[in-house]
Amino acid sequence: MSVTPLRGTAAPAEAAARRDAPARLEIRDLSVVYASRQGNVKALDRLSLSVGDGEFVAVLGPSGCGKSTLLKIVSGLLRPSGGQVVLGGRPVVGPRPDVGIVFQQPTLLPWKTVLDNVLVPIRALRRPVAEYQDKAMDLLRLTGLERFAGHYPNELSGGMQQRVAVARGLIHDPALLLMDEPFAALDAMTRERMTAELQAIWMKTGKSVVFITHSIPEAVFLADRVVVLSERPGRLLETIEIDLPRPRRAQTLGEPRFAALCNRLRAFFSVDGHAQ
Ligand SMILES: Nc1ncnc2c1ncn2[C@@H]1O[C@H](COP(=O)(O)OP(=O)(O)OP(=O)(O)O)[C@@H](O)[C@H]1O
Ligand SMILES: [Mg+2]
Repeated sequence: MSVTPLRGTAAPAEAAARRDAPARLEIRDLSVVYASRQGNVKALDRLSLSVGDGEFVAVLGPSGCGKSTLLKIVSGLLRPSGGQVVLGGRPVVGPRPDVGIVFQQPTLLPWKTVLDNVLVPIRALRRPVAEYQDKAMDLLRLTGLERFAGHYPNELSGGMQQRVAVARGLIHDPALLLMDEPFAALDAMTRERMTAELQAIWMKTGKSVVFITHSIPEAVFLADRVVVLSERPGRLLETIEIDLPRPRRAQTLGEPRFAALCNRLRAFFSVDGHAQ
């Protein structure tokens, strides 16, 4: 069964359909141990998680619990110590073209224009750049940056740079988009706007997304499902379905159901912000 990408308002039932769709991503019994001079550090402990085709999953967890490690493994940049990651039916053994990544910092190349920064994955994948120019412009339009295609990163605000990074993550049409706290460095207002924009982009493109965040409201606003990880070594503590209709809007933040879901997630964190 394949799930049609969302267009317009989505009922909670559609979120359930995405969850139950054939898994785009299967993480099975994943363990990661880093060897360091101070001894071994266990970052993840037998973590299992699946993400459906077109599903938006947010991962919440305290600092140092292994969230970035998880994304590095899923993107094939790092090999696990145990367990397996299967993406689109094939085990992940290295970086793959069906994955896009957006890091916490935009990490743009300062000597390249906005347009050329968006095209970086195309060059890396050795695909014909000329064939992707129109797509890059479409993505810049989608992210509200079409007038800045010829500008350089240092001419853009932090929020605009991060939007370039989102466009770059989507240019090669990956089935899975991985986002590691992409809005953490932004001011509160830009962050809210970017969150709404991300929802709109996701609804248009129908990608599977794994979105890492420290922010409970951000996770609830964006996700079909929120996964809570424990303190290091990261273990799966809980998975919570977010049954709010889409598109979620500014007023969603004031709704009782939104507050109830946030409170449910907050219960996993003690007052000093650490998962139990
Ligand atoms: N290359 C490495 N060598 C040794 N230890 C590492 C390495 N990378 C990460 N770690 C350790 O693994 C643990 C998990 O790190 P990771 O970066 O995945 O955490 P995180 O959940 O992303 O944290 P944050 O929320 O602060 O970004 C930490 O204790 C960290 O010190
Ligand atoms: Mg991290």
